[in-house]
Amino acid sequence: MAFGARGWRPRSLLLLLLWVTGQAAPVAGLGVSSELQIERRFVPDECPRTVRSGDFVRYHYVGTFLDGQKFDSSYDRDSTFNVFVGKGQLIAGMDQALVGMCVNERRFVTIPPNLAYGSEGVWKDIPGQASLVFDVALLDLHNPKDSISVENKVVPENCDRRSQSGDFLRYHYNGTLLDGTLFDSSYSRNHTFDTYIGQGYVIPGMDEGLLGVCIGERRRIVVPPHLGYGEEGRGNIPGSAVLVFDIHVIDFHNPSDSISITSHYKPPNCSVLSKKGDYLKYHYNASLLDGTLLDSTWKLGKTYNIVLGSGQVVLGMDMGLREMCVGEKRRVIIPPHLGYGEAGVALPFVTCVLSPFQFSEYIHAQVATGKGKLAPGFNAEMIVKNMFTNQDRNGDGKVIAEEFKLKDQEAKHDEL
Ligand SMILES: *[C@@H]1O[C@H](CO)[C@@H](O)[C@H](O)[C@H]1NC(C)=O
Ligand SMILES: *[C@@H]1O[C@H](CO)[C@@H](O)[C@H](O)[C@H]1NC(C)=O
Ligand SMILES: *[C@@H]1O[C@H](CO)[C@@H](O)[C@H](O)[C@H]1NC(C)=O
Ligand SMILES: *[C@@H]1O[C@H](CO)[C@@H](O)[C@H](O)[C@H]1NC(C)=O
Repeated sequence: MAFGARGWRPRSLLLLLLWVTGQAAPVAGLGVSSELQIERRFVPDECPRTVRSGDFVRYHYVGTFLDGQKFDSSYDRDSTFNVFVGKGQLIAGMDQALVGMCVNERRFVTIPPNLAYGSEGVWKDIPGQASLVFDVALLDLHNPKDSISVENKVVPENCDRRSQSGDFLRYHYNGTLLDGTLFDSSYSRNHTFDTYIGQGYVIPGMDEGLLGVCIGERRRIVVPPHLGYGEEGRGNIPGSAVLVFDIHVIDFHNPSDSISITSHYKPPNCSVLSKKGDYLKYHYNASLLDGTLLDSTWKLGKTYNIVLGSGQVVLGMDMGLREMCVGEKRRVIIPPHLGYGEAGVALPFVTCVLSPFQFSEYIHAQVATGKGKLAPGFNAEMIVKNMFTNQDRNGDGKVIAEEFKLKDQEAKHDEL
């Protein structure tokens, strides 16, 4: 190790470079090209953007002399070299050689002494008149002026509403670095990432990138480090890294949402409208906003019968069944807080793993203490068994807290 032999080793070449750039003299050695030589060893097929002067880059390099002897390598330090391009922080040859590079491109760069350390060299590690060869692999690039960018949008045809600040959003994501390294994925945890948006609960880039999405939409959100994890990084996210999030929006709602009613069919001779206290018989198909069918009375082969306004169904459903004609068909969309999110059986307090028996005991205890209710007219044990089956997402015979909470944000059809 060239620097090690001196008993002093700079943490990075940058330090070294800052010290000596001012001394570099434009002297061409005899028989050595005074031109910068760039050999593009690998250029990726996809290259949406190339390095420009003023960009900040992260790259790996191996530095050798013309005879192949190594004098420095970022790989030996196990971290990329991070620096601004075109601001004199690098030797002149490197400042020029990085321009036009794609992420994942590899360049062999031969820098003559006049664009490197000149006739003086630096310490004893790089002699005077030394031409330097750098094997450079670019991993990351951004500009401090960058904001987030939203790409590859796939928006469903039916998009009644777009997410706004304050909405509670559930989405899946794959998080990668610009070079394609996966650093995190919600799929690895088998459940969505759930958060309020526009309120500072997530990194600023995501807070912004998640605005204006539709339910079911897919988009790519590219977040520069100053809107992500900054110069420090976090966990397996390196400092100064651009983050690429491919997201799939499962659903969202706003805590102030009321129900939404769309009438599909209204009989022409409608004169009597349903009201509080009426005995109602109805059929329903219940699904999540992404279209996943939860349940249907058609499957059970009988109508659901309730007295309207008597608390037999969740508040949102009670509201949605009012002022209907006999024969009318409508779609009722119920936000969680008018469904089972906050009313109904109080689920979010579970923190342990539950067996079917414990689950049943828990639900009955909730009912007994007035925190919840089971739909009348059905066998209570059967309802609880169905609830358990629905909560046990991975079918392993146990309900863990995460399964419990997640399902809690969806409509629980047993009581609709
Ligand atoms: C996610 O589900 C898959 C398939 O059901 C399973 O193999 C994996 O262990 C689960 N991972 C977690 C973190 O629960
Ligand atoms: C995340 O990656 C997995 C595996 O490649 C893929 O199946 C899934 O569709 C990706 N999700 C998104 C939102 O891009
Ligand atoms: C409306 O008309 C249909 C068919 O003509 C009939 O079966 C139904 O009873 C009528 N409803 C009322 C409320 O008059
Ligand atoms: C429910 O789904 C069944 C089967 O797809 C369909 O026949 C029925 O009309 C649907 N009912 C309503 C109220 O949408």
